[in-house]
Amino acid sequence: MHRLGFVGTGTITAAIVRGLKRSDLASWPVVLSPRNTTLSMELASSLPGVTVAADNQKVVDQSDVVFLAVRPQDAEDVVRPLRFRQDQHIISLVAALDIDVIRHWTGASSITRAIPLTFVEQRVGVTPIMPPDATAAEIFRALGGCIEVADLNAFDGYAAASALMGTYFGIIEAAQDWLVANGLKESDADLYLRNLFGSLGDVLRERPHSLRELRSSHSTRGGLNEHVFLRFIEAGGGSALDGGLTSVLARIQGRG
Ligand SMILES: NC(=O)c1ccc[n+]([C@@H]2O[C@H](COP(=O)([O-])OP(=O)(O)OC[C@H]3O[C@@H](n4cnc5c(N)ncnc54)[C@H](OP(=O)(O)O)[C@@H]3O)[C@@H](O)[C@H]2O)c1
Repeated sequence: MHRLGFVGTGTITAAIVRGLKRSDLASWPVVLSPRNTTLSMELASSLPGVTVAADNQKVVDQSDVVFLAVRPQDAEDVVRPLRFRQDQHIISLVAALDIDVIRHWTGASSITRAIPLTFVEQRVGVTPIMPPDATAAEIFRALGGCIEVADLNAFDGYAAASALMGTYFGIIEAAQDWLVANGLKESDADLYLRNLFGSLGDVLRERPHSLRELRSSHSTRGGLNEHVFLRFIEAGGGSALDGGLTSVLARIQGRG
């Protein structure tokens, strides 16, 4: 059992803490920083074994594993003044914040980066961590799964892929706009597309086939699905996706 501390009680901290309290690690004590006050108080009053510390230093003092979960622009001001013990483990969720920088700020030797998404609340989030670490892996496995990554470029690749969520919904939105422009009622188009993409999500999660096999099995040769996919690729859809991922990776790595 480890005592878990969270510096920064926002969206991702709430998702992790709620997920943990539904998991095999539910008995692990959790201490939250007081900010955001409303959310930290709500979590502490609704979940067993969750407390709110008086300040960030007390979170660190009362924890074995400290999650850094403040916004990137706040990180230096928040983390630098804190005093960490040598035996403490830090798990940083702060996007694009280098481990060497965290080490410089904190003097800690045991630091892991992680990219959880809010699906950890339902314990179905698969979280990349870097470098491989048994404690961080145990925590994120309890929240749905963990991919342990040794290489920074690969880790940044997962961060880039996590930026596809807006595109996913944007494609569905574009399809809805097209249906409405063709005379369908917006609510009917909405119902139809939610069911279509939601069911495809179930297929994706449940069937062990490769993505190529899934595309092929959902595209009759010479049929309508194959037709749309070929037109999408011919019109540059594939390279637009490739370009978006390449450019967001450059941004994550401070090159763009
Ligand atoms: N959301 C995600 O899905 C996700 C996924 C992976 C990683 N992350 C990373 O996790 C970090 C947090 O993201 P988030 O979405 O949870 O952001 P958020 O909802 O904005 O939460 C950040 C929290 O930090 C608090 N805070 C600000 N200054 C503080 C201070 N001096 N001491 C303690 N807490 C302070 C904020 O309080 P106030 O509201 O009072 O300002 C807020 O509650 C970011 O670095 C982000 O890159 C997020």
